[in-house]
Amino acid sequence: MRIIVLGSGAGGGFPQWNCNCPNCRGLRAGTLRATPRTQSSLAVSDGGGSWLLVNASPDLRAQIASCPPLQPARAVRDTAIAAVLIVDAQIDHATGLMTLREHRARLQVHCTPSVHSDLTTGYPLLRVLESYCGVDWHPIDAENEKPFAIEGLPGLELRPLPIPGEAPPYSPRRHAPAPDDTIGLTFVDRASGRRCFYAPGLAAFNDRIRTEARAADCVLLDGTLWQDDELQTRGASQKTGREMGHLAQSGRGGMVEELAALPGRKILIHINNPNPILDEDSPERRRLDTLGIEVAFDGMEISL
Ligand code: MLT
Ligand code: MN
Ligand code: ZN
Repeated sequence: MRIIVLGSGAGGGFPQWNCNCPNCRGLRAGTLRATPRTQSSLAVSDGGGSWLLVNASPDLRAQIASCPPLQPARAVRDTAIAAVLIVDAQIDHATGLMTLREHRARLQVHCTPSVHSDLTTGYPLLRVLESYCGVDWHPIDAENEKPFAIEGLPGLELRPLPIPGEAPPYSPRRHAPAPDDTIGLTFVDRASGRRCFYAPGLAAFNDRIRTEARAADCVLLDGTLWQDDELQTRGASQKTGREMGHLAQSGRGGMVEELAALPGRKILIHINNPNPILDEDSPERRRLDTLGIEVAFDGMEISL
């Protein structure tokens, strides 16, 4: 199994277009040791030529351009993207669907019924696509943790899991989410049995999530914020991590404490631009280094 991090940033990316927090300002000025990051997306393959796009970010066009395996050029119009999977209906995970409208066949889209509901009503991207390439929806049954496969990637099994979170700001379920508004996934390589657990939005751990994370050879987990009130203290927004459905890294019961207890490779992903871990010289980043916790970057490759 091969996983390529197409975008390691959270919504807005890094630097964010209108942001002058110390990170965004420092990156633009060249005074910060840090790397730009596009918005949250992965490409996953079973080692064959086809790829599953996991989340379609607003930066998808540039992400495809910088990832040659996704553009094999075997015909006048071609792609190696066999299907798209969306883990939540947030703008940063779904907007790139519009970029795929020129697809030559109906787009194969895997998402839960709640995500499908938001993407056909409040933010009706899937309906709009009906006037372009068309969409075949493959429902994901996360509540029953029903494993599934992707056509064209026979070596890969996907195991979905409901994750505590929030529905998107435009959703009628914003602060009363359904269990399948946000999901995590374990990607299993059928040949080797090796597993990667991915949850870019995670508001809280529970025993089920801990078990899944412990069983994984590698985890890619919510790296949005270091501190719950980070956006407030940096004057960027009134929103807290909790309100947005993201567990902060620091403090008791925080993401770092949870990750430190895991046996496998641990990687933070979906990192929001004011997070101090983006500054490679920060004490927070050094703390992660000490604990063996990695910070995902665009172009990062994981082979399992
Ligand atoms: C989130 O993860 O909280 C959202 O994606 C943020 C956004 O895109 O506005
Ligand atoms: Mn997001
Ligand atoms: Zn910023």
